[in-house]
Amino acid sequence: MNILLLGGGGREHAIAYKIAQSNNTEQLFIAPGNAGTAKLGTNVNINPEKFDEVKAFVLEHQVKMVVVGPEAPLVLGITDFFAGDDMLKNIPIIGPSKAGAELEGSKDYAKEFMYKHGIPTAAYRTFTKDNIQEGIDFLKTLKAPYVLKADGLAAGKGVLILDNLQEAETELKNMLENAKFGNASSKVVIEEYLKGIELSVFVLTDGKNYKILPEAKDYKRIGEGDTGKNTGGMGSVSPVPFANKTFMDKVEQRIVIPTVNGLAKDNINYKGFIFIGLMNVEGNPYVIEYNVRMGDPETESVFPRIKSDVVELFQHTYDGTLNEVELVTDPRAAACVMMVANGYPDGYPKGDVIEGIETVDQDALVFHAGTKLDADANVLTNGGRVICITSFGDTLEQALAKTYKNVDKIKWQNKYYRRDIGKDVI
Ligand code: AMP
Ligand code: GLY
Repeated sequence: MNILLLGGGGREHAIAYKIAQSNNTEQLFIAPGNAGTAKLGTNVNINPEKFDEVKAFVLEHQVKMVVVGPEAPLVLGITDFFAGDDMLKNIPIIGPSKAGAELEGSKDYAKEFMYKHGIPTAAYRTFTKDNIQEGIDFLKTLKAPYVLKADGLAAGKGVLILDNLQEAETELKNMLENAKFGNASSKVVIEEYLKGIELSVFVLTDGKNYKILPEAKDYKRIGEGDTGKNTGGMGSVSPVPFANKTFMDKVEQRIVIPTVNGLAKDNINYKGFIFIGLMNVEGNPYVIEYNVRMGDPETESVFPRIKSDVVELFQHTYDGTLNEVELVTDPRAAACVMMVANGYPDGYPKGDVIEGIETVDQDALVFHAGTKLDADANVLTNGGRVICITSFGDTLEQALAKTYKNVDKIKWQNKYYRRDIGKDVI
């Protein structure tokens, strides 16, 4: 069948890599894609947030499955748009309804959902500018550091962790009164700080049945030793040593099952990925956040470890029959290191020529994030996160060694990467 994948980052390149391997795939289209996805299918210049353009393309090219990479089209309701359109309603789309996407679109909604369904998470309260004084009083009942979260989508920047009360009060006012994150901070969630190690858990659900995909750890800070500003993610490893059977059983019983059941109880149509960002607090998992898509750069180490035919998994997801298929995973470790443009996550140059991609070893994977092709077919940098390498190993150490060896083969003028990915969990 013909498949349309929406998105254009490293995550989508890794998803496209698996879709392209499926015997069920005839033509693969990626909108908008990048220089990497162009080698696996056809990039199409469509904005995934313009549903009429998506519809026209799907009908014109006999697309029989749509896979949604990023959250924005989901939060805008692309799944409901398909369900409500006579010509699209029978075309499988992988991604939750608008109501389901609120788990990522509104932190207040997500917290309410967790409380209602007994899912462990940090204690919290939500405030608006009408009860800002109560917010300040609530802050005074907490201990530092203080966690302030803009309710809505804020390009990954809406969470502030502040060491002192004065700063926290000022930022609360900035968010609520001065719209620091625009409309996204018209509500602010203040929550208890959780101390522990983070883990990304991925679930594919058809609304009743679910498969837990390989877990991963992401490295969010720009600097080595987890210092400096937050980024989209500088690398990932899968599996994660501390996520052993005992811990993952707790995650399944306390979080995954109540989440999937909670969605069903609340009558929310959810056929897609649930990305659970959690904190391991002394051996017990607490949900930090839900996302309604795969993680980036977690997908670049998680998807290569999926041996099953992903198109088959997606079809069963849409049909509500995920219980009928087996998820087969690769037991080896995978390590992904992201190379970024120097300056990221602040200002950075674009348009540098990337060299050496063709010299990467056959058994390492190259996933493009922010790249584009110029008229002479040179690959140019075109974003903050530019390109990553994923390799396998029998151990995480071996996977990392192979990845770093290949990272050195890719060159451009303003390249930066972290040299300590995975070190903390080895
Ligand atoms: P988010 O944008 O929700 O992913 O949050 C960004 C980061 O803030 C998370 O990855 C955590 O590292 C951190 N964080 C969020 N909530 C908490 C919390 N309650 N306690 C400690 N750290 C948190
Ligand atoms: N790597 C974190 C995210 O995709 O949100």
